[in-house]
Amino acid sequence: MPDIKYFDTHAHYDVQFEDDLSEVLDNIYKLGVHKIVDVGYSKESSEDAIRLSNKYDYIYSAVGFHPQEAEKDNNVNILYDWVRDNKKIVAIGEIGLDYHYDMDKKLQKDLFISQIAIANELGLPIIIHNREADMDVLDILKNQMKPNVGVIFHCFSSSLEVAKEVLKHGWYISISGTITFNNANSLIEVAQYVPLDKLLIETDCPYLAPEPFRGRRNDSSKVQLVAEKIAQLKGISIDEVALNTYNNGCKIYNIKE
Ligand code: NI
Repeated sequence: MPDIKYFDTHAHYDVQFEDDLSEVLDNIYKLGVHKIVDVGYSKESSEDAIRLSNKYDYIYSAVGFHPQEAEKDNNVNILYDWVRDNKKIVAIGEIGLDYHYDMDKKLQKDLFISQIAIANELGLPIIIHNREADMDVLDILKNQMKPNVGVIFHCFSSSLEVAKEVLKHGWYISISGTITFNNANSLIEVAQYVPLDKLLIETDCPYLAPEPFRGRRNDSSKVQLVAEKIAQLKGISIDEVALNTYNNGCKIYNIKE
């Protein structure tokens, strides 16, 4: 039997898993998901991500302040301390801009830019949260990112045109379970277009469970359904999607096997 390994490049285990976390994580590994990055979005969730990554061999962490934190009083310099003290932090994120909700744009940009500066300095890739803010996110990245520092567009939901711009810079596109939803038309175009060497897959669990589990609690084992859907769309085997996205994940997060 072929041994297919999967990399869930974006998950959140700090919420909705209070009762059964260790059971779920043991099972996920047995189901073939052999790498997970647990992603912070605030001080508390980043510390949770670090704790989890220090407990499980196959889990890594990302630390950062999501745009929803922009109006709060957060000190981003704590990122330096976390990274210095924890070898399993592999990225700064999730960070970015969210214009869906009415939150101060100037404060969001300031928070985003200050964390990009830290990522540049530390040489760590960044995980982008972009909601309805394509042009500002692209502008900021073009102006602020050091070349050779990696960028991942997590849970990609923008147009094919934006995807082409992202790829032009050598940045990565990560596709979540939303690819299985029946209104995924433009994401389907993106999935078909993204070359295999710039593609990542993720669950963003506990959110965004793919069909036929939509609306239920998601977990990393469902990344297989994302791979399956992309394989279908690209007309290639699921093994090929799994292998490429696994290797890409290790490469962008600089994980040595
Ligand atoms: Ni997320």
